[in-house]
Amino acid sequence: MEEQQKSSHVVLVMVTFQGHINAALQLATILHSKGFSITIVHLELNSPKPSNYPEFTFVSIPDNLTESQLSDKDIPGLVRSVNKNCAAPLQRCLEKILHSHHHISAVIYDSFMFCAQPIVDDLGLPGVTLCTHSALGLLFYHVFPQLNEKVCVADCISGLESPELQALQLQGFHALSSQNPTEAGLEVGAAFANALKSSSAIIVNSMEFLELEVLSKIKQYLPTPIFIVGPLHKLAPTMCNSLCTEDNKCISWLNKQAPKSVIYVSFGSIANIDKQELIETAWGLSNSKQPFLWVFRPSMDRGSEWTESLLNELEESVGERGFIVKWAPQKEVLAHAAVGGFWSHCGWNSTIESICEGVPMLCRPFFGDQILNACYICNVWKIGLELQNQERGNIERTIKRLMVDMEGNYIRKRAMDLKEKAAFYLMEDGSTSCSFDGLAKHISSV
Ligand code: UDX
Repeated sequence: MEEQQKSSHVVLVMVTFQGHINAALQLATILHSKGFSITIVHLELNSPKPSNYPEFTFVSIPDNLTESQLSDKDIPGLVRSVNKNCAAPLQRCLEKILHSHHHISAVIYDSFMFCAQPIVDDLGLPGVTLCTHSALGLLFYHVFPQLNEKVCVADCISGLESPELQALQLQGFHALSSQNPTEAGLEVGAAFANALKSSSAIIVNSMEFLELEVLSKIKQYLPTPIFIVGPLHKLAPTMCNSLCTEDNKCISWLNKQAPKSVIYVSFGSIANIDKQELIETAWGLSNSKQPFLWVFRPSMDRGSEWTESLLNELEESVGERGFIVKWAPQKEVLAHAAVGGFWSHCGWNSTIESICEGVPMLCRPFFGDQILNACYICNVWKIGLELQNQERGNIERTIKRLMVDMEGNYIRKRAMDLKEKAAFYLMEDGSTSCSFDGLAKHISSV
């Protein structure tokens, strides 16, 4: 087995978003440590830093995308373009790799790069889907294209025993399906579900104890083997995969703050926030009187006259109490003793990272699986509060509920309990290492 793995070669096809790049490189690092040789196929836009991974081979494929498309609000449209533009280059690239290598054991592709599955089918290679979202996201995306035809939301939740999970499914699925999917959304959903059906295995960056019921439900829908391999960021040696430069000055600022006093605010790498919401966010933070660290990305219109004047006014009003960066070393921030809350867009990486550090969350989901993650956080694990609207008075009150009030203490206690469970899960013999051994065996034998 060990010998077989030494000669096994995995090709990993990444997509262009930060959260997805992190998970793919973490997975590749672990597979490499298990004896696999790794080729990373990535898009030209937002390419990773090969110098961080001298042991991998990096190949880029043309994507025909522009930087401005990444700031577009139409994420399904962007994912559709990525798959349309990249299918032919990916096919050529895989053929070239096949000619220069005797063997490709498997092509692991990001679930957003579903164009890979028909290509690998054509080439007679096994395709494995990497989900950078939860198992619940997987369930939703799988049943979503059928929702209007023969399956209704009630079918998805039948058989789930816990009332919280039933509520979650109803709320999350209704919220998502009522977002009136665009033509691109429907097309992308159908292509994703089709790819899942022919994929030889599915990898999910989650922890089993977080999603036990959902996992057993998925097995009724999908016969494909599922490997739960998270939390990847804790299992792979720390490596900075940030596409933006991390501003480490925020750590010196955090060092000066009282324990659990700071609310960390970050909306991930792709969510777009409109001007009015940014203004309300700024004044909600100011009025809360709570110390805050805010990631205000360059793609949130930074550098424009109005954002610079908003940030100047905010800095004047809060002084040393607030710190604003373009990009933070998030994992280090969440692990810092001064951080007592995380106001988040509820991307899956951010959610898992927050759970592992026991930080309670303030949820402002924007689209897609973020809505399901927020339901998990607020209704099932009960480690966060949902921000009901983005008006400054409500922001101020909700920050105080989480950071100062008794209610926040209970939530923090549950977040700490979940952190302990995660730490125990990581230490436990069996759980994650067993999943990885199973995955390694699967890849070597298909
Ligand atoms: C996207 C989707 O929005 C999300 O729903 C899906 O689950 C994964 O892909 P993204 O916006 O990239 O998510 O957010 P998230 O999944 O939370 O990933 C962001 C990553 O960037 C995290 O690993 C976080 O640690 C990192 N980050 C973010 C930083 O390192 N610094 C920052 O300042 C902000």
